[in-house]
Amino acid sequence: MKDYDYSVQAKHYDVLEENPSVEAFNKVLDKLLKKHKVKSVFDITCGTGAQAIYLDKKGYNVTASDFSKEMVAIAQKKYHKIKFKQADMRSANFGNFDAVISIFNAIGHLSKSDFQKAIQNISNNLKTGGLYIFDIFNYDFMKNNFIPYEFIDTCKEVDGIKYVRFNKNKFDKKKQLMTMNQRTYIQEGLDKPQIFTDSWDMQIYSSEQLKNILEKNGFEIVEFLSMDGKKFDKENSLFILTIAKKK
Ligand SMILES: C[S@@+](CC[C@H](N)C(=O)[O-])C[C@H]1O[C@@H](n2cnc3c(N)ncnc32)[C@H](O)[C@@H]1O
Repeated sequence: MKDYDYSVQAKHYDVLEENPSVEAFNKVLDKLLKKHKVKSVFDITCGTGAQAIYLDKKGYNVTASDFSKEMVAIAQKKYHKIKFKQADMRSANFGNFDAVISIFNAIGHLSKSDFQKAIQNISNNLKTGGLYIFDIFNYDFMKNNFIPYEFIDTCKEVDGIKYVRFNKNKFDKKKQLMTMNQRTYIQEGLDKPQIFTDSWDMQIYSSEQLKNILEKNGFEIVEFLSMDGKKFDKENSLFILTIAKKK
């Protein structure tokens, strides 16, 4: 699996990805961190800061890094109280935290072997008993509900600019690999639209597989949840929100 960098997506990431579920999820995350008395958080795939900025404003002691220098630059421009760093989750090491988070399917960018490398590295950034919190597509849901046709996943107008994004994805059930193919039209008034295309692979897992991989690498599962903070439902949850504890 190739490393995927967000250089094409970065500029329009916030406009395209902003939706009510981002704010709703941040509240779920805050509740979880409070429940486990977390004070220091390392967002190891911070992107443009969707979780890191929110958590810093809530009073957590936040460290944040991401692989993409373009995403990091946008986060830094938005918020100066955190020094956002460019680093790879397979090797980033910035201390011993109460929790490491990796949100919005970032782990899916890694091959199976790189996922294990990342888990070991995440363990190095955690205190004993520290939490690793991440979400990823749920294979058990996806295998029965994959959308095989091209569809529009985003359609919005912001400051007079129209954004329409098409997805035509492929899913190799045996390899548990989803190839995302996106085409985005950005159009001001009736000007000729700019058209971006982008393509990348996402490795996906079942909750049983995640449990095995994490246990093999020195973690125990605290719980699996859905992104709304409710109980994880193997057949119906799109994502697996995993809370694992370093043993
Ligand atoms: C879908 S974005 C999520 C960003 C942010 N957490 C959010 O919710 O908006 C996935 C992020 O993972 C980052 N990423 C992918 N591979 C990475 C790696 N090996 N190390 C660190 N970050 C990585 C990408 O650069 C991207 O910013």
